[in-house]
Amino acid sequence: MAEVPVITVDGPSGAGKGTVSHLLADTLGWHFLDSGALYRVTGQACLIEGVSWDDHAAVTEVARHLEVSFTTAASGEILVAYKGVDVSREIRTEEGGRGASTVAAIPAVREALLARQREFRRAPGLVADGRDMGTVVFPSAPLKIFLTASAQERAERRYKQLIAKGENVSLARLLEDIQERDERDSSREVSPLVPAEDAIVIDSTATSIEDVFARVMQEVTKRGMNASR
Ligand code: DC
Repeated sequence: MAEVPVITVDGPSGAGKGTVSHLLADTLGWHFLDSGALYRVTGQACLIEGVSWDDHAAVTEVARHLEVSFTTAASGEILVAYKGVDVSREIRTEEGGRGASTVAAIPAVREALLARQREFRRAPGLVADGRDMGTVVFPSAPLKIFLTASAQERAERRYKQLIAKGENVSLARLLEDIQERDERDSSREVSPLVPAEDAIVIDSTATSIEDVFARVMQEVTKRGMNASR
């Protein structure tokens, strides 16, 4: 039987991966994997269970037994729960991002979450959003996108989002956080943030998300991946 197709969308935070991946999954009617959410929930679960992010053995146990569920609300928003309790808001804070990036650098944690991520590969197809989707989790994916943008541009996008939500943030602080997170994600020994050799690299610094999406759809069409729609 033919393998269920996967489109991987990797890249640093704030490059627009989430938006492009959601649009792709909706347009194709495919499943969606937000792998960052699994790392974010692991970090959050540690806070809930009183486990320090630096205690690698204990964090790995949390990841192995992670009781996480994803449900789609009537609004279309994806809700994430740990042990049945909604943690969608907590995992999206700056602290949630730091926790995710810290626990994601532990090789045994990545190993513990590998099989769980692969379970998302179900017919008719999967759009997988993350850092190592094309290099490690789904190396056989027929279409791999690596979406990037300058750190300054990503910080400005995040700044606008947070200001619109009424949060009081500093652009300089956000830029520092993004640079620190990039450094941690790119320099870790296991599954660092690098494009797969066969990935199509798209820089969205000066390109709208609509144009990025149109570019990705060209590749989808070229491969006949939207044939059934
Ligand atoms: O995509 P995100 O911002 O929600 O990811 C949060 C953190 O999780 C990010 O800093 C790095 C880590 N991550 C990872 O190491 N591998 C993935 N496939 C996805 C996320």
